[in-house]
Amino acid sequence: MGKRRQKLKKAFNANLVILNLKRMWPFIKPVWVRALIGVLLTIPVGGLDAVVAMFLKPFMDQVMVDKQQSFSNLIPFLIVGFTLLQSVLLYASDYINTWVAQKITIGLKRRLYEKLLSMDTAYFDARNSGEVLFRYSSDAETASTGLINSIKQFLSRTFSSIALVGVLIYNSWQMAAIAVAVLGLFIYPMHIVRKKMKVILAKAVVNSSSVITAYNETFAGNKTIRSFTLEEEFKKRFCQITDTTFYLAMKMVKSTNWLSPFMHVVMSIGIAFVIGFGSYLIVSGRITSGNFVAFTAALIMLYKPLRSLGNYFISIQNSFIAIDRIFEILDLQPQIKDKENALDLKEIRKGITLEDVCFSYVPGREVLHNINLEIPKGTTLALVGNSGGGKTTISALIPRLYDIQSGKIKIDGIDIQDYTQKSLRKQIAMVFQDNFLFSGTIRDNILLGNPTVTDEVIWTALKNACLVDFVKGLPQGLDTDIGERGTLLSGGQKQRLAIARAFVKNAPIVILDEATSALDTKSEKVVQEALDNLMKNRTVIVIAHRLSTVQNADNIVVVNDGKIVESGSHENLLAKDGAYASLYKMQFKK
Ligand SMILES: Nc1ncnc2c1ncn2[C@@H]1O[C@H](COP(=O)(O)OP(=O)(O)OP(=O)(O)O)[C@@H](O)[C@H]1O
Ligand SMILES: [Mg+2]
Repeated sequence: MGKRRQKLKKAFNANLVILNLKRMWPFIKPVWVRALIGVLLTIPVGGLDAVVAMFLKPFMDQVMVDKQQSFSNLIPFLIVGFTLLQSVLLYASDYINTWVAQKITIGLKRRLYEKLLSMDTAYFDARNSGEVLFRYSSDAETASTGLINSIKQFLSRTFSSIALVGVLIYNSWQMAAIAVAVLGLFIYPMHIVRKKMKVILAKAVVNSSSVITAYNETFAGNKTIRSFTLEEEFKKRFCQITDTTFYLAMKMVKSTNWLSPFMHVVMSIGIAFVIGFGSYLIVSGRITSGNFVAFTAALIMLYKPLRSLGNYFISIQNSFIAIDRIFEILDLQPQIKDKENALDLKEIRKGITLEDVCFSYVPGREVLHNINLEIPKGTTLALVGNSGGGKTTISALIPRLYDIQSGKIKIDGIDIQDYTQKSLRKQIAMVFQDNFLFSGTIRDNILLGNPTVTDEVIWTALKNACLVDFVKGLPQGLDTDIGERGTLLSGGQKQRLAIARAFVKNAPIVILDEATSALDTKSEKVVQEALDNLMKNRTVIVIAHRLSTVQNADNIVVVNDGKIVESGSHENLLAKDGAYASLYKMQFKK
């Protein structure tokens, strides 16, 4: 019994509205005054419905039955007057409610975006862009606009219903009892619909994100699609995704949209009962015909919005389920967090050490096995070795883009997990294997949000990165737009821009992952010189396949399949005639 009652309770919107209001409160709080005004405005909008029904009784009894003129003169004015008032209130309530809904949506979106920015690299590795776009943006809209609409509708319907039920009871309590009993029949079907919707919507989210991802990939990968003539393949794939969209939409209609017609039928039964019973009441003189007309009008007014409630209930549920999903995201905690009392890393005094570091991206597939490294301050460590061996992974662990599973990474003898992430990353400038440039100008991409950098510093960085001639030749120089992801630049230009921004960051630790791989021999020489400048007096980790670029490193470490197989200086390693020596011979045989 208790369970059943809970089910019934769940089906009632009221409880859910309260629960969701509670969760949304932090976002509603800043605008609560206007939200309240918006809500209050719905009371007269709903309540005025009853006034019209109420007038029907005196109209019937005095004008139609008793043939009195005085009252009927008033009625047209009253009807227009009340409707006018209701319309003005309706406009005001729509305006305020949209204002509130927009503010709440934006608040939610900002909070979600902040959450997105706080998530770890591993979180992004495991997701696709469509899912992020859908869950962080579309859901916010569905949730808050839906919530506001539902509250507005719910309250105005509630007040209208209370007032109309009042009219019913006033005119005939016996008939009112029948009408209200019929309303009770809707509760259980609503519960079923909600349950079904939840299941279908979960699938719809996955499907919608696939659609968005498809567009993203078509945009970003258009050259690959064209050159591999993948158009047919992509079309087929898109058709499959949209077939699922169709299937889910139809399934949704099938399992939820029977609610409105069902209500329609049940209500007609209610009305039939009332008319039958009402005729008996009139004939036996218990109510006047005015009572009957006013009652029937009020009943139709009460049932009409309830009939559309089916569809409207679906959209409310949609927003509630979106709120569930949003709070799932807001409850996420990044795995990589600052400790309480984390230290500020202000400068590097001794250097970096890795002790017995083991790491896996996915549980059970270790990619680094017991790595031990010592990088004293001011020295250069070179990582070489087979592709997929784990060099980039090692470099990503030092700024804590991922946390290790066992072992320790220390800077100046203190675990990097004891420093704040911000201060740790401030000390490290990275040039990645695949550098991401942002849409915007060359200047934006070099400054990266640091406004204190002067043009002089920028030009020095450009000089060091061999970009001066290129930038000077551009129509707008530093302020030339480079397109989304820097599409308007060549591979080598992108790489040099990434080097320039590492120069500007001027951090004591520098990580260069294949920084010169996209350069021709001539620019490589020049850039190498610049990099040598960048590396001077800094602690450097440099990764390169071309061994010519790492010969001068203080220490060269060969990493194969996640293990260190050899280490030492260029001369030592050559003398050893091991893995490094054979790599070297292979490259220089030509
Ligand atoms: N985000 C990731 N999630 C799961 N596995 C990954 C991820 N990034 C890399 N790996 C795996 O980790 C291993 C080491 O990759 P890593 O990029 O460190 O190699 P690398 O030595 O830099 O290779 P290359 O010389 O080709 O750049 C590879 O087997 C790779 O498949
Ligand atoms: Mg790599």
